[in-house]
Amino acid sequence: MPKPPRVQFLCNHCGSIHPKWLGKCPDCGTWDSLEQFQAPAPDARKTALRGAAPGSPDDATADLIHGGQALSLPEIRLDDSPRTPTGIGEFDRILGGGIVPGSAVLVGGEPGIGKSTLLLQVADELSRRPIDNKLKTPLQADHPVTLSPAHRVNRTVLYVTSEESARQTKLRAARLGIGSASLLILAETNVERIIGQINKHRPSVVVIDSIQMIYKPDLPAPPGSVTQLRDCCMDLVYLAKTSGIAVIFVGHVTKAGTLAGPKIIEHIVDTVVYFEGDRFHTHRIVRCVKNRFGSTHEVGLFEMTGQGLRELPDPGNLFVEQYGPQGPPTGSVLTAAIQGSRVLLIEVQALTASSVIGAAKRKVSGVSADRVGMIIAVLEKRAELRLAADDVFVNVARGVKVVDPAIDLAIAMAIASAHINRPLPPGTFAVGELGLGGEIRSVPQLELRLREAARLGVTHAIIPHIGGNIPHLGGMALHEIRRLSQALAEL
Ligand code: TYD
Ligand code: MG
Repeated sequence: MPKPPRVQFLCNHCGSIHPKWLGKCPDCGTWDSLEQFQAPAPDARKTALRGAAPGSPDDATADLIHGGQALSLPEIRLDDSPRTPTGIGEFDRILGGGIVPGSAVLVGGEPGIGKSTLLLQVADELSRRPIDNKLKTPLQADHPVTLSPAHRVNRTVLYVTSEESARQTKLRAARLGIGSASLLILAETNVERIIGQINKHRPSVVVIDSIQMIYKPDLPAPPGSVTQLRDCCMDLVYLAKTSGIAVIFVGHVTKAGTLAGPKIIEHIVDTVVYFEGDRFHTHRIVRCVKNRFGSTHEVGLFEMTGQGLRELPDPGNLFVEQYGPQGPPTGSVLTAAIQGSRVLLIEVQALTASSVIGAAKRKVSGVSADRVGMIIAVLEKRAELRLAADDVFVNVARGVKVVDPAIDLAIAMAIASAHINRPLPPGTFAVGELGLGGEIRSVPQLELRLREAARLGVTHAIIPHIGGNIPHLGGMALHEIRRLSQALAEL
């Protein structure tokens, strides 16, 4: 008699599996996050998918896919990189040049930010691209094989909408002005029927909008639970890896910024990108946080228009507030942050206000609160600014998030300017990393940052001491400093 499947417990925060129920997950420390879960039998996924798939790979192909042979490094060919550009340059930039056949991409973001809009546009563009039936999955790239007709993918793109009806999607497509005949729309939530349709049409790319609404009928867990999410995601990723069909998942993000559901989806997929900021601005920032096929930290910039998302390859002064003839208020400094392969000119704003004694607040948005805490401590200790009794607010204008320590100096100057209530000269630009001793350290790619600032009209820059090794920058005056106190002398 076959043994009944063992019951285990899955943490819906970190995805770890435990043999018994516990109040607190021992791996990630989250309370009340363990949920009953039935692990599938070892080969169940493989057999279930093979059975369900009339066009699934035959054994010879499967051998290739599973890497039957070990190869030495010189034997591995790097000739053609198997990527399909999506035709939307900013999306290609985040993916590292295009979509890799057989890869799984997760696109996360708050509801209403534009995930469905972007992916419908991407799906439409992709369905107009020629496809290559020689190079299939990334695993197969070492053995380019021309697949037999039954195993080829078509130029079609399948857009599975699990939240909206096919009619709603058609209305959106009409608004976006798209109507490619090779773009198929499927309104479905049952993962088995979705896989059936994928095997029937063999599209080159499948979009699942959204993964949180997909369910598998034979699982005891209710739709939307962690077990469902994990299993549906695994089935589709397995299908992608074995067939060369790329899968793009849409995932909703909670207000706290995490994926609604387990982090585990992030571990299963190859690439994770998030929509950043809020939907009250018209521009949209899409950031790559994980990429097995390219660099992370790339950002894509778009603008939401009446006809969908428009690319913004050159943001220019988009992230800088435009002030009238009276110039910027106190606490405003321009700086340049590196975001992937691009430099953004941004504006740091600070405000200080006297606080209730003993309860000074520090509120930041767009930069790390810890970093700002450190900068405030350096200002107190090395520049004798008394900030202990003040509330300090620091903000990066227009909803950008920056993790580049090169903006330390700009933050320090903005706080000092707000605190002593004296504005900096209009267009003051500063880059430099701040050390605990109040020293200003050099920053990577200084020249690139200065060139972008010069291009956008900055005429005066405060930079770390480099000994005058910067070539001509269109007449920009450079003020090299070694210590924070020298920068504050500008005030
Ligand atoms: P949507 O893509 O549905 O968001 P998500 O899938 O992330 O929930 O975007 C919805 C918002 O975008 C909605 O507020 C309307 C707006 N929008 C436009 O401004 N222009 C457009 O062309 C479209 C299709 C949507
Ligand atoms: Mg949507």
